[in-house]
Amino acid sequence: MEKNQLRVNGKRLQHTLEEMAKIGATPNGGVQRLALSDEDKQARDLFVKWLKELELEVSIDEMGNIFGKRKGQDSDLAPVMSGSHIDSQPKGGRFDGILGVMGPLEVMRVLHENNIQTRRPITIVAWTNEEGTRFAPAMMCSGVWANALDRDWIYDRTDINGIRFEDELIRIGYKGETPAEKSPVHAYYEYHIEQGPVLEKQGITIGAPKGIVCLHWYDIYLEGEANQVGPTPMEGRHDALCAAAQMILKVNELPARMNGNLVATVGEIQNEPNSRNIIPDKVHFTVDIRSWDDDLAIKAWELVKKDFQEIANQRGCPIRIEETWRVEHSPFDERLVQNILDTADNLGYSSLRMVSGAGHDASYMNQIAPTAMIFVPSIGGRSHVEVENTTWKDCEAGANVLLHSILNSAQR
Ligand code: GLV
Ligand code: MN
Ligand code: MN
Repeated sequence: MEKNQLRVNGKRLQHTLEEMAKIGATPNGGVQRLALSDEDKQARDLFVKWLKELELEVSIDEMGNIFGKRKGQDSDLAPVMSGSHIDSQPKGGRFDGILGVMGPLEVMRVLHENNIQTRRPITIVAWTNEEGTRFAPAMMCSGVWANALDRDWIYDRTDINGIRFEDELIRIGYKGETPAEKSPVHAYYEYHIEQGPVLEKQGITIGAPKGIVCLHWYDIYLEGEANQVGPTPMEGRHDALCAAAQMILKVNELPARMNGNLVATVGEIQNEPNSRNIIPDKVHFTVDIRSWDDDLAIKAWELVKKDFQEIANQRGCPIRIEETWRVEHSPFDERLVQNILDTADNLGYSSLRMVSGAGHDASYMNQIAPTAMIFVPSIGGRSHVEVENTTWKDCEAGANVLLHSILNSAQR
């Protein structure tokens, strides 16, 4: 078949996604596959099995990143790469990440069954721990691969139960031999659901983000004084949870204070001893700030950090602040973005240039290779929740755009 006549098999892509959605399925139609959990391992095993069926050269690196390489006519050339992640949020959706792994897998299947030769090799990748929910930060292992994060720092990160990242990686059998070191990549495409409302609202099938906002993560630790809630007068208390509550509202008010162009969220909190009749004496919470404008995000943080110090002083609750992680905003390769828009156009799909408010492994890949993303609509703009959904028709459309964007780059 002529290359430009090729199309993905939408039914097969649907079936593949449905098989994956069984792993870690939650009662309300979502999935829970936290990084390096048993469910993550099970999904990885299935993915590797599927890669081997396509006679790809499979390798697993020391961060657990999984690669499947398809030969090119000139195998010395840098490959075109495409992938995303297998891990999910707690009670997350069936599309976030996995669509960007099963999409290029479907592309590989189409190329395989049609005996298509490409000039460059094509590599599919599943990056370890994109979500950063069990082990912070996010996009960990694309970060190590791209030489933006330190391998040993990542190995020592712990989850909420104090379990080390490296120990879990070994436990699930995915600490591979290959060094996690970048090598030349001709073009990196990441296929993903939008995770926001823009495409659906405008009735558009394909989004081509011009880039990804910056992501800044902070961890706040507060100390109070625990005591029996009944006999202890309200005056003179050092209630760490009340201090946290005031701080959380300051974070929520921050975007308005900065005149927009920024979002700020507290999504996680731990309170100790977490008893209704003890004044809380230890609180940890997270802060997530995102903007297209890195300087604005830093300015906002400096403002709110000052508020935190003041609140901590007023309440007599010592504060410790960890500036955990920052990834700068990532403007994508204009030529690749245009390739996606043109490809969508050629295939008869409506398309839109936009911005990604969600973080992706593409942020780190963008630091080392020409990078772009393909978005498809999220129903109701919902994501990171069990009801996360995208129509099968749109999944197929995005995979067709991926197929032809990859073919295009693999011929150059
Ligand atoms: C990654 O899922 C993010 O937090 O945007
Ligand atoms: Mn994702
Ligand atoms: Mn996600």
